[in-house]
Amino acid sequence: MAGGRSIFVVILLGLFLVSTATGSHSQEGRSWKAAHATFYGDMQGNETMQGACGYGNLFEQGYGLETTALSTALFNNGRTCGACYQIRCHNSKKWYCKKETVTVTATNFCPPNYSKPEGNWCNPPLEHFDLSQPMFQKIAVYRAGIVPVMYRRVLCVKKGGIKFEIKGNPYWILVLVYNVGGTGEVIKVQIKGSSTNWIPMSRNWGQNWQTSAPQLVGQSLSFKVTTSDGRMVQSDNAAPANWHFGGVYESRKQFPI
Ligand SMILES: *[C@@H]1O[C@H](CO)[C@@H](O)[C@H](O)[C@H]1NC(C)=O
Ligand SMILES: *[C@@H]1O[C@H](CO)[C@@H](O)[C@H](O)[C@H]1NC(C)=O
Repeated sequence: MAGGRSIFVVILLGLFLVSTATGSHSQEGRSWKAAHATFYGDMQGNETMQGACGYGNLFEQGYGLETTALSTALFNNGRTCGACYQIRCHNSKKWYCKKETVTVTATNFCPPNYSKPEGNWCNPPLEHFDLSQPMFQKIAVYRAGIVPVMYRRVLCVKKGGIKFEIKGNPYWILVLVYNVGGTGEVIKVQIKGSSTNWIPMSRNWGQNWQTSAPQLVGQSLSFKVTTSDGRMVQSDNAAPANWHFGGVYESRKQFPI
């Protein structure tokens, strides 16, 4: 009886340890869900650059080839841009699946096509990943074309600080926010000049955030970035007073994992 109870306690303790060990990832690291995956572009990732999230050269921006486009159901009008997923092939026809699990960042949109009589994998409500070709070929053989997958959201691990690319003109400032760690899913951005208060920015498209506050030229710029888990990182004077349009400025801060 006592022996049985101590085994029970050991099991409980084991469960507790497992849940604390994964605790920091539990918020976005949800359980595995079923979806499908295809690929686009080529082995160099050519067609995967730019895209509906507003990123540019994905190599320069640190995303590389480890990227995916999301179907309408997952894209959430661009809000999910920058989120990270683990994806693995699951139960495909014999020999199509490889064992590897890839971790990718959402950088593009897989558009629906309602005029295809046979339907389209990126139409709502389907959850679908259109991977870069190199990522697809890590989880499945090329000739599979499309495979069933299991996927889950994970926290993004990024090198260095959050980056801000400043675009637009003196009357309309557009800031691309990228290299965001943690959930990677930015829900709110605020900007502040050295002699202004905090100014809310609105999402223009993808991860491009805008404001028409005209008085920011010539002032050092600070940013507050809030992600989907409610965490906020404040980057004071991320851009110096002599910032210029087209410039990229890196925060000293990042979302801790
Ligand atoms: C793809 O990109 C590589 C290197 O960036 C380039 O050499 C190649 O010509 C491109 N391929 C196509 C089909 O555009
Ligand atoms: C949508 O599918 C139709 C039928 O296959 C095709 O002709 C058309 O080019 C597709 N549209 C886009 C935007 O891909």
